[in-house]
Order: sequence, then C-alpha cells, then structure tokens
Amino acid sequence: MTESSKPPVIAIDGPTASGKGTVAALVAKALGFHYLDSGALYRLVALASEREGVSTENASFLSKIAASMPISFQDGQIMLGDEDVSELIRAEKIGRRASELAVHPEVRQALVRLQHGFRQNPGLVADGRDMASVIFPDAGLKVFLTASVAARAERRYKQLIAKGISANMSDLLQDLTARDARDSSRGSAPLMVAEGAIVLDTSELSIDQAVSQVLSWYRSSVSSQS
Ligand code: C5P
Repeated sequence: MTESSKPPVIAIDGPTASGKGTVAALVAKALGFHYLDSGALYRLVALASEREGVSTENASFLSKIAASMPISFQDGQIMLGDEDVSELIRAEKIGRRASELAVHPEVRQALVRLQHGFRQNPGLVADGRDMASVIFPDAGLKVFLTASVAARAERRYKQLIAKGISANMSDLLQDLTARDARDSSRGSAPLMVAEGAIVLDTSELSIDQAVSQVLSWYRSSVSSQS
C-alpha cells in the first residue's frame, strides 16, 4: 500500500483526563471510523504485569508481556483472555503503573505493531500521547487536546464520584501533576505537541463543542487535499 492509499488517521494526543478519550470516541462514531484507545494498551500491560508480580522497572519482562498478552476489543469491551477488564484497567493505581512502565522504549516498541493494526478502512481515530509524533506521523489531522490541571482534576473527581468511588481533590491534583511530569519528561516518546498539530484547549468547552471543532478541522483538511 502506498502512503497516500493508507486509510486516513486522526491523531488526538493530550495529557491525562483532558477528555481526549471521550472526544476521540465520538469523532470516530460520527465518521464511522475505527477507534484506538492506545492508553488502554499501556493499562493492559500494567494490569497483566501486576498480576504476575512484575516490577515496573523490569523492562524486558514487561515488553514480553506487552508482546504476548491475549487482548481483544469486543463491542466496546476490553478483554484480557476471556475476562472483561474494561473497568479494572480504569483504576487510578493502574493508570499510575501504566505511566511508570510506559517510560521504557522496549515496552513502547512491543506495542507498535498492535497499534498500526488498527489502521483500517474507512479510517481511524487514535488517542494517546505519541499518536501524532511516533505511531502515525502521517496522520491527516493532528490534534493536541488539553485543559488546565484544575479543570482536568475536577472532571476526574466528578467521574469517580459518579461511579461511587471516593475521591479527594488534592490527591487527584497531585497525581495528575506527577503523571504529566513523568509523561512529558521521559526520554522515549514524551508527551508533546507534535509538529503540525493543532492545540485545542477544552477547559471552557463542552464535549459537543470539542467534537464539532475536531470534525470541522477534519472536513477542512479533507477538502483541502482534494
Ligand atoms: O491515556 P491513559 O491515561 O489511559 O494512559 C495511561 C498511561 O499510559 C499514560 O499516563 C501514559 O503514561 C501511557 N501512555 C503512553 N502513550 C500512549 C498512551 C498512553 O505512554 N500513546
């Protein structure tokens, strides 16, 4: 397949709790595209390796787990073997563990092919940290979706309370700040605004407004190519 005949990709990167997952899934739905939640892959490695008692320092063992874990995505459910782990991987401690093991280049490399496999017709919306910079550098539209730390902590707080999980604002703020710092300062594929990416600050936007903005950028990018 030549570069230009590859299915189109919209890459949406951004920090934790910026709303990129929700926005990316809705953009994919509106366009009838596939959706890749790349953070879920790192979370799956975190869960699978925790169960095997593997340290987040053990890059070679972690990358073996990343390359061989029996995962599948079925009707919005995330499966590890025949177990639905969609909820389990959303735990705060699994997110923290994912961010710790995501610093290893070997682990990142082990997930590349899996991520490329999601690029199928009629197109893909991919969300993560390095979608635009590393995994799909030829994406037709690159968006860096962000929001202030305070807005993100508040959103996360509301999500957790709505699920009946107790939460504490100051712990959430501290955790988000630490995760941002770790994701942005790592040597391998750090969180950054990729070349050619458009920044969308959603602190003051509703989900619908953010989705409409991305769709309108995508439609203009398609019409400017044709
Ligand atoms: O996006 P989410 O919070 O689910 O991601 C969990 C962690 O996985 C992030 O904090 C980040 O360290 C890592 N990650 C990554 N590259 C991606 C997606 C997620 O390093 N493309």
